Order: sequence, then structure tokens, then C-alpha cells
Amino acid sequence: MSTERTLAILKPDCIRKNLIGEVIRRIQEAGFIVRAIKMVRLNLREAEGFYEVHSARPFFGELTTFMSSGPCVPIVLEKNNAVADFRTLIGATNPAEANEGTIRRAFADSMGENIVHGSDSPENGRIEANYFFPEHEIVNHTL
Ligand code: CMP
Repeated sequence: MSTERTLAILKPDCIRKNLIGEVIRRIQEAGFIVRAIKMVRLNLREAEGFYEVHSARPFFGELTTFMSSGPCVPIVLEKNNAVADFRTLIGATNPAEANEGTIRRAFADSMGENIVHGSDSPENGRIEANYFFPEHEIVNHTL
């Protein structure tokens, strides 16, 4: 069976709204295996590093300030077709455009405060997972 990894981040609004358990429940129910998980508080420089690809965007300051405003929960997830399936599960970046039944549609307030991040390609999934977790902390516990 071929599997793929993606990095999810439960964002500070998810933690503030006490939705960690509910969001992880939906993720697991959709068939994703948790390979690594922790709670971290990013400082501004760490948030800027993670989102460097967006550094020229007008919302970069807002995004990095928000992501460093409270704790986050990064999670390495594994599944067949993990990247695309996770993006389907969470819904569009703008919660107003997210499909019914998606995590962002259910819980997100705005484009900036949108509960959860998901990698946009398998390559970025690996890079982003390693931003938070060295390879030896990503556990193959079902093997
Ligand atoms: P995420 O999946 O974490 O990747 C980049 C983030 O930038 C995105 O989710 C949004 O939270 C944020 N973002 C994208 N567009 C905007 C915008 N127009 N205004 C504020 N934040 C945005």
C-alpha cells in the first residue's frame, strides 16, 4: 500500500475554541493515521520561517502574528492520497467558500483564522513535517 504524509497544524483559534479533540476526531474518522503530534508556541520568527513562501503576500504580517499569538498543534498525518484528501476534509481556505461538512465550514471565522493548516503538495508535506519534527520523532507505530 502506498502512503503519503501531510502536515496539519491546529491553529491558535482551534486551541482557543477548545476544538483540539473535535478536530482530531474528524481527522481520525476520515482514516488518517497520526504519526507525530505536539503542542508548540511559535515565536514570530518561527511563524515567518514556516510561511516563508507567503512572505511577499499582503497578509503575511497578519498571518504570522496570528500564528504566533498562542499555541498550535502540529500533527504529521499519513494515509493514501493524504495531501489531497486532507484538503478536501478541511475545505477551502475561505470558510465562506468551504463545502458543507468540512472542518473550516463548521468552525472557522475567516480566511486568516481558519482553524487548521494542511500542506499543499507531498513534497511540502515532507518539508513542513520536518519543520516541526525530526524524522526520528515521526513514528511508524503500526509496523
Ligand atoms: P494555510 O493553509 O495555513 O496557508 C496560508 C494561510 O494564509 C492560509 O491558510 C490562510 O489562513 C492565510 N491566508 C490566505 N489568504 C489570506 C488572506 N487574504 N487574508 C488573511 N489570511 C490569508
